[in-house]
Amino acid sequence: MSESLIIGCGNLGKIIIEGFERRKLKLIVYDKKKTTLEELKKKKYEKILIQNNLKNIKWANLKYIMICVKPKDINVLLNEIKNFLKKKNILISFAAGLDVKKICRALDQKLRIIRLMPNILVKVEKSSTGAYKNFNDNGIENIIEKDFNFFGMFTWFKKEEQINFFTALYGGGPAYVCFFFQCLFNISKKNGLGPKISKEMILSLLHGTSEFLEIEKSNFSEIISKVASKGGTTEEALKFFKKDSKFINFWKKVLKWQKKNLDLCNEFKFIFVIL
Ligand SMILES: NC(=O)c1ccc[n+]([C@@H]2O[C@H](COP(=O)([O-])OP(=O)(O)OC[C@H]3O[C@@H](n4cnc5c(N)ncnc54)[C@H](OP(=O)(O)O)[C@@H]3O)[C@@H](O)[C@H]2O)c1
Repeated sequence: MSESLIIGCGNLGKIIIEGFERRKLKLIVYDKKKTTLEELKKKKYEKILIQNNLKNIKWANLKYIMICVKPKDINVLLNEIKNFLKKKNILISFAAGLDVKKICRALDQKLRIIRLMPNILVKVEKSSTGAYKNFNDNGIENIIEKDFNFFGMFTWFKKEEQINFFTALYGGGPAYVCFFFQCLFNISKKNGLGPKISKEMILSLLHGTSEFLEIEKSNFSEIISKVASKGGTTEEALKFFKKDSKFINFWKKVLKWQKKNLDLCNEFKFIFVIL
């Protein structure tokens, strides 16, 4: 693969940079924060070139230009780079909620754009990544999945609006899972288990359940019925969760709300700070 560029080296950007380095793929990185670039320089990457001036980049040589700044900073950035971009470049946007039409409008040109919506599990190559492209090229899906195989799994959407629900559930997913386990952790501590042992037990619950699902090749309900024996207390507890579909309806409501906010990003001049 020829070299690519990433702009924005924050939470997600840094994880992507590590992935490129692990795969020994050439990458130029740029961030407006000088201290971030200094920190990255200290890591002495083999394949990563730190760049502090957009003018010094050979844009015609770039395969992918990855935009990894917060949605609120996108307009300023697109304005800064629009005159450097070449028709052959593929622009990859990681920005939540920002649709292709809005990006093209900000760039004053129609470019090949791919939206990738990963989550932070890219770090362990287990991200559930949603993808959408604004051009017809069937082969590109396989190329992207190969070039970014350190992300994890991909699913491609035919309609761009589908990506907002995906962002709500899977982009935020690691935070929701951690929030759930943090609740259990707090309850564990309140019931007399120390913080160290509570954390270890919770992690064992998390890893163990995931491994069990994989090894048994079971679906979720099969595992649930293996734990909740007929007439037992777990079965009773689960009935409490299922009562009037309150628990699932609560989740539906939360995700619907988040999706609605993502949809609104393109309708208003202001942009929510998402993820
Ligand atoms: N974090 C996630 O789990 C996740 C998951 C999926 C998608 N995303 C998307 O990925 C994008 C980045 O998220 P993040 O959490 O990594 O954000 P972040 O931690 O705020 O990182 C963004 C970086 O870009 C820099 N930046 C801002 N404007 C710039 C400009 N004009 N030129 C160069 N650098 C600029 C920021 O500097 P300053 O700090 O000085 O502003 C910061 O270092 C967002 O659009 C988000 O929706 C994130």
